[in-house]
Amino acid sequence: MKATAQAPSNIAFVKYWGKSNNALTLPNNNSLSMNLESLHTITTVEFDEMYSEDLVEIGFFQESIQKVSGGKKQRVIDQLNRLRQLKNITTRCRVRSINNFPADAGIASSASAFAALTAAACAALQLKPSLKELSILTRLGGSGSAARSVPDGFTEWKRGKNSNGSYAVELAPPSHWDLVDIVLIVSQAEKSASSLEGHESAETSPYYPARLHELKQRVVRVRKAIMAKDFHTLGQEIEKDALSLHLTALTSVPPIWYWQPETIALIHEVYALRRQGIEAYFTIDAGPNVHVICEQKNAQKIRKHFASQAYISKIFSSGVGKGAQIISKHLF
Ligand code: DP6
Repeated sequence: MKATAQAPSNIAFVKYWGKSNNALTLPNNNSLSMNLESLHTITTVEFDEMYSEDLVEIGFFQESIQKVSGGKKQRVIDQLNRLRQLKNITTRCRVRSINNFPADAGIASSASAFAALTAAACAALQLKPSLKELSILTRLGGSGSAARSVPDGFTEWKRGKNSNGSYAVELAPPSHWDLVDIVLIVSQAEKSASSLEGHESAETSPYYPARLHELKQRVVRVRKAIMAKDFHTLGQEIEKDALSLHLTALTSVPPIWYWQPETIALIHEVYALRRQGIEAYFTIDAGPNVHVICEQKNAQKIRKHFASQAYISKIFSSGVGKGAQIISKHLF
């Protein structure tokens, strides 16, 4: 009863912000993203009667593997309990997980973590879920965006009317379009407010109804732009979406500032690149770091441009990748 899974992080083009049901992690809107090939979590799960309690070990980016406790451990155990219940067992397990990028910095580490955990635990328990069922089970772990890390490539998480209708589907495989996400890290510090707090306070913003209204059209436009590989339309829409999310956060009660001064400087750098004829667009998740989305043909030039900025501590870049996979090499 041991299995290992690898799952990617993803970057949303139309972002999930605000829920209609907290316990079931049901979102207020559809969201669309691409999976990030080079930014992933690998997780091994082993259920065995020899364990008297669940053991959770995480190797955070560039840190040695450590046992986790408290809230982080409890979220993992809650997800394991959901899956154990399906099998009607109480067998304890050991979970070991490693990440190849920093957690809590605006790159969805919980997305890759919960997709990898759920896929590995389902395989270890021989639950054999369909892709749709795996996306639903992953979503129930509480990190909703993780549902989008299950199918391959470009994905859309359908809001759905109930729990069984709320899951992510593949819109196009990774080979469909050679987009690149260049992630500019300006701060690896823990973000000022969790996404959880952000989702919960979204409705306190007077602009949130306007966001939900504009999303109806944006979801259609972004889906079409992905299918038609229309980079100009995609880029315009993803910038509008990121600004609309941050406007909602900034006008929530109390306001949530995810941006640092460097975040704004980088937005202007992206505008400057476009003035020079290099097509690149920004998006920003719940943190200060900036994701620059471009086509492969411009990626090297853009990466080089940002490498000379002293206030950027790290740059990651990634093409489009597959979703959650079972792999044969275990972590213990
Ligand atoms: C801004 O509740 O899925 O990234 O559990 O913190 O990873 P974490 O986040 P989740 O919210 C994601 C919020 C977002 C937008 C998005 O990815 O759609």
